[in-house]
Amino acid sequence: MDRITESKVIGVATPRIDGPLKVSGSAMYASDHHFPGLLYAWPVCATISNGTITRLDTGAAEKMPGVVAVYHRENIGKLYRVPPSTGFTMIIDEKRPPFEDDSIRYYGQYVAVVVAQTVEQARAAAESVTVTYNKERPNTGAKLLGTSLTTDKPEEKSKRGDTAVALSAAKVKVDEVYTIPVETHNPIELHASVAVYDGQRYTLYETSQAVVNHRDVMAQMLGVPPEQVRVITRYLGSGFGGKLWPWPHGLLAAACARNLRRPVKLVVSRQMMFQSVGHRPAIDQRIQLAADADGKLTAVQQDYINHTSMLDDYDEGCGEVTPFMYSTSNLLVTGGLTRRNVGNPTAMRGPGAVPGLFALESAMDELAIALKMDPVQLRLKNEPALDESLNIPFSSRHMKECLTVGTEKFGWSPRTPQVGSMKRDGLTLGWGVAACSWLAARIETEATVELLQDGSARVACGTQDIGGGTYTVMAQVVSHETGIPVNRIDVVLGDSSLPPGPISGGSWVTASMTPAVLAAAQNAGKALVLAAIKSNGSPFLGKKQEDIELVDGTVRLKGQGTAGVPMTEILRIANVNSVSGTGKSDGTLGASKPKFSFHSYGAQFAEVTWQPEIARLRVSRVVTVIDAGRILNPRPARNQIEGAVVMGVGMAMFEETMYDPRSGAPINNNLADYVVAVNADTPEIDVTFLDYPDYELNALGARGVGEIGLAGIAAAITNAVYHATGIRVRDLPVRIEDLL
Ligand code: MOS
Repeated sequence: MDRITESKVIGVATPRIDGPLKVSGSAMYASDHHFPGLLYAWPVCATISNGTITRLDTGAAEKMPGVVAVYHRENIGKLYRVPPSTGFTMIIDEKRPPFEDDSIRYYGQYVAVVVAQTVEQARAAAESVTVTYNKERPNTGAKLLGTSLTTDKPEEKSKRGDTAVALSAAKVKVDEVYTIPVETHNPIELHASVAVYDGQRYTLYETSQAVVNHRDVMAQMLGVPPEQVRVITRYLGSGFGGKLWPWPHGLLAAACARNLRRPVKLVVSRQMMFQSVGHRPAIDQRIQLAADADGKLTAVQQDYINHTSMLDDYDEGCGEVTPFMYSTSNLLVTGGLTRRNVGNPTAMRGPGAVPGLFALESAMDELAIALKMDPVQLRLKNEPALDESLNIPFSSRHMKECLTVGTEKFGWSPRTPQVGSMKRDGLTLGWGVAACSWLAARIETEATVELLQDGSARVACGTQDIGGGTYTVMAQVVSHETGIPVNRIDVVLGDSSLPPGPISGGSWVTASMTPAVLAAAQNAGKALVLAAIKSNGSPFLGKKQEDIELVDGTVRLKGQGTAGVPMTEILRIANVNSVSGTGKSDGTLGASKPKFSFHSYGAQFAEVTWQPEIARLRVSRVVTVIDAGRILNPRPARNQIEGAVVMGVGMAMFEETMYDPRSGAPINNNLADYVVAVNADTPEIDVTFLDYPDYELNALGARGVGEIGLAGIAAAITNAVYHATGIRVRDLPVRIEDLL
């Protein structure tokens, strides 16, 4: 692959081009869209989590002020399922269309929807719909290991050697269970859908991390061709995976708009977001490690179970990184699912790897203690030379450097391993470390770049910016290739009618989008050269295409060092408004014989302070060293890692969705009772990027950041908690009562 090493814009800290729009309130988020005649929808949510509807009385609601319609199973009209598929297309987690039957399988399942003139009228009427149930005992039990699975036995995910033999022969062993509670995505922007139907076509303003998939799913479920559906998400107040795939409310809004031929807005309340738009499932993981007396791993085994909903299978994939993290000749990862009366779980920032690494990196800390070895040294000692699960080389792995740079930045060397042995200003200190990794990939992408007579450029791609900086990085890539300044580049994304772009998931957008945008910009440059040699009056008329190049926004003869002719001048002479090029890049995901193992890596160092007198625990300092390929824009990249660290503090210390065992209702369904980390909980954060380009992935060597920053944080914190207190917390989050 061609390598791009030098650039005037790539790698330069560039402020977000969408920043002024956001801080001035002019960026249009999904629920900001308003249309003449707009109506408001409010769903009626089931108040049981297991049973059937015996009667649904909408009489009172229908007579209430402003109510236009009340829809339910009898009158919503036809809604279809997506066909089963094994590919990476038409993805939806909750496959049952709303109101398909009278069974209730989770608390908050939609049973009806009211449409009214105002949102207050819709909500009041929804509360007046009377539903009678035949109620059965729900199962929202948090204990997973030892409960019944969806299959006869857990599925084998990765295997080499024989862990049973190695474990029984081992000198030093760890065998522990680590659990993670249900965590709920809480992006600031609520899920929302504004549906417009003109009698044939749907325009859906959605909170979507994947507009093209959303279009395809909606078209299928509404029973129309994809050309009749357009999905728009210009800005997103983040999603953390909760907005990757469509949820039932979007289909309800579209069906209401269809039935009434009026625009309909449906905003999912914060309470409903704990019920019907996904969550990270509860997960139990048993980790068994075996090592020689000198710390060389001889066996790694991970057996996990995650809960899923009654109808759909969501596999958290906790063994995502385990098979290649460390060198060991014996490894086994198994996974199983168990059903609960909950809404369907979904991907949440770093799915699989983040919970998997909490368990694995906690167990590595326990192993280091058993070995009386420094936990950094234990990890360095077991660094693999290649991906031993696939027997292929890593495209670019600098895990050792992450760890060694981290020890320097953190000041790790004075650490004394004895519990509670370190003090500062009267506080007990705990220092913990974890290594981490996250899958890197390119997914299929198309983009177009247009060069305009006014000297500007336009780049279009059907991807999204979830707040991570995609608008700005796309402009930087075009600027790099064309020489047009970033502030003259119009970035258009978040619209399913654009060339199909990558989902904003997996931290894959940057790696996927850049090669397609580069190719599009190059092709636009070729189109400009063609105009230069074919247009009467052009100084390049009749020259050969291969003798001409586009440099810094000017067209010039190659190798002559003469001043070029500005692009604007060529287009003016040719009397064309613009020239354009299309670019495509292929995908690395799902390749049957991959040549390289693509991942990002990192080392997380955490410091906690502990005051046993008043049981006060704080995360005071985090040093994070990230190997995520070349960093295209250090400003938003740093923000991504800082945000992820804060989310990691929440995961370690606070976040837990609790269900009432009688009703199955999530009871802490608001931001007062579901505690997320806020500014006052934020430690001092030191972010370092190693910035080694991964040229096997794309010409710029970019992998992308986002999820890698969260991976390993929770374990680094609980490892530090052990160091301070001597208490090993294996069940997240850390509760003060655990430490008393
Ligand atoms: Mo992320 S969980 O892939 O949006």
